[in-house]
Amino acid sequence: MKLAISGKGGVGKTTLAALLAQVYADAGRDVLVADGDPSPCLAGALGFPSEFRAQLHPIAEMDELIEERTGAKPGTIGGFFTLNPRVDDIPERFSVMYKGVRLLEMGSVDIGGSGCICPEAAMLKTLFTHLLFRKDDVLIIDMYAGVEHLGRATVDFVDAMLIVVEPTRRSLGTANQIKQLANDIGLTRCWLVGNKVRNDEERLFLESETPGLPVLGMMPADLAVQEADRLGIPVYDHVPSLRLAAESMAKELEAVLVKSVVE
Ligand SMILES: Nc1ncnc2c1ncn2[C@@H]1O[C@H](COP(=O)(O)OP(=O)(O)OP(=O)(O)O)[C@@H](O)[C@H]1O
Ligand SMILES: [Mg+2]
Repeated sequence: MKLAISGKGGVGKTTLAALLAQVYADAGRDVLVADGDPSPCLAGALGFPSEFRAQLHPIAEMDELIEERTGAKPGTIGGFFTLNPRVDDIPERFSVMYKGVRLLEMGSVDIGGSGCICPEAAMLKTLFTHLLFRKDDVLIIDMYAGVEHLGRATVDFVDAMLIVVEPTRRSLGTANQIKQLANDIGLTRCWLVGNKVRNDEERLFLESETPGLPVLGMMPADLAVQEADRLGIPVYDHVPSLRLAAESMAKELEAVLVKSVVE
């Protein structure tokens, strides 16, 4: 199962990615998580101890590796380099596993709307596509950048794109844009996940204002989430209300995805 998580800045993408990863890992699944944030923070959200974190380095910042694989130094524009460098060994070599979750820090490059063609962008793009082709049991991508860069492989291999929203019109507006972009490239398997929901009024607001997307589930606003962050403990271990919400979304996802395969 391949899940991509997107949404406006700060809505809770990383929190959801970490929760779902741990739910599936604890259910005995083989989980790989890709952190696409330029300042990766999934390791923290998953509670990786410092000695594990020290082994993690974003692929986008591995200048020597990028030069070795693409034939050009990162930062160079123009000139010749390979657009499909070898990446098949990267997930095993550079991911780090803790409590059953394997984490790969992708980092990111500012590809920009015009589609920058530089060695590091070629490397990341090829790696994303490779991850989507691999036969991992569960792949979760915490997407920082938009969906428009990911292209064909995303459409063919992402089983579900989860768009996280807060109960605000702004975040629903972003969700609508993401949905449009996803639909433009042919990706229609999108679900909304409400987060930081404080009461029934907010729950109803999200349900009635969804930009035509099915709601997978909702996570309550809980002050213990910030407390977990301060204490350096995963939300999964510290905030039962969010763990329960993630467990029920994981079940729901399996159900809807099995159903869509049968249909
Ligand atoms: N259900 C919740 N209740 C209270 N606080 C929350 C909840 N979910 C997330 N937060 C807080 O909101 C902030 C943003 O969460 P998170 O980092 O998961 O969002 P994000 O979408 O990944 O952000 P970014 O766009 O910066 O990557 C964090 O401080 C987190 O502790
Ligand atoms: Mg994040």
